[in-house]
Amino acid sequence: MVILITGATGLVGSKISEDLLSQGHTVHYLTTRKSAIKSSDNHKGFLWNVKEMTIDAKCIDGVDAIVHLAGETVFQKWTDAAKKRILNSRIDSTNLLLNLLKENEHQVKHVVTASAIGIYPDDQDGKALREDEIPPTATNFLADVCIAWEKIGTQFKELGLTHAIVRIGIVLSGKGGALEQMSKPVKFYAGSGFGNGKMWQSWVAIDDLSGIFIHILNHELEGVYNGVAPHPVRNRPMMNRIGKVMGKPVFLPNVPEFIMKVMLGEMSSIVLASQHASSSRIEEKGYSFKYPELEAALRSYLK
Ligand SMILES: NC(=O)c1ccc[n+]([C@@H]2O[C@H](COP(=O)([O-])OP(=O)(O)OC[C@H]3O[C@@H](n4cnc5c(N)ncnc54)[C@H](OP(=O)(O)O)[C@@H]3O)[C@@H](O)[C@H]2O)c1
Repeated sequence: MVILITGATGLVGSKISEDLLSQGHTVHYLTTRKSAIKSSDNHKGFLWNVKEMTIDAKCIDGVDAIVHLAGETVFQKWTDAAKKRILNSRIDSTNLLLNLLKENEHQVKHVVTASAIGIYPDDQDGKALREDEIPPTATNFLADVCIAWEKIGTQFKELGLTHAIVRIGIVLSGKGGALEQMSKPVKFYAGSGFGNGKMWQSWVAIDDLSGIFIHILNHELEGVYNGVAPHPVRNRPMMNRIGKVMGKPVFLPNVPEFIMKVMLGEMSSIVLASQHASSSRIEEKGYSFKYPELEAALRSYLK
């Protein structure tokens, strides 16, 4: 297969690219940076400029499927300008892809777009949420972004393509991202939980997240799938487990919610939100997790 990936230089996209290449597929990718363009027979970079709505149409040549991950990072202060960039980068990039497909001959059959479990309401007590159980309701800025991103994605279906969405959880990787941020203070015996420490953290190992995207591509699946592991944990036990694996016990009291809000502003909602998402649907479609349990994932990525 030839797969076009957006956001391929990021944490998730680079792992999916690496895995697709090692399985013998060809990867085309779109980047906003000239310096990130590399080209070999089976791995080719192309430029786009989402702000100016320009794209190198050659990126679509021979492509069977698209994986769309690109978007401005949400891990920054949520000023009005940043919120606009976070939302617009996702909506405008999706529009660029839709226009590309409308205006050019192509053989694309399948599109898989990213979303996040932040689309679900913040809930510390409920049961694990399946994709179709709770209609997405906007409860904060991130939910707004996810709803808008998922909604515009439905237009791929209107073009006659098969469309799937992966609602990504907290991605654990040995190469940066959430785990690096969580483990940094633990290294200096300064680890702690946040708020009341009871928030559900629906984590996923990067190997499995990449595996889920590739499973969806291989089986041409459509619909929405939570990209989370089968056994989420609550915040304080997650921090305690990180401490255990690193051999650095986490003993400090949790950082109170109001301090998180003062430190991070509105963005603290990412850290304080509780989302208990179910992995059942992708498992029912035949995906088998390499890291269903947290501790094995931590042992692998915190080495
Ligand atoms: N990591 C997580 O825990 C997590 C959780 C839930 C959802 N997600 C979502 O999954 C997607 C991939 O996550 P990630 O962690 O791999 O993100 P990442 O490491 O921040 O990478 C995002 C990629 O998007 C591209 N990008 C950034 N700003 C852009 C802009 N303004 N216009 C166009 N492209 C832009 C960049 O590619 P170039 O610099 O090459 O252009 C970058 O490599 C993101 O949409 C993210 O919101 C991630």
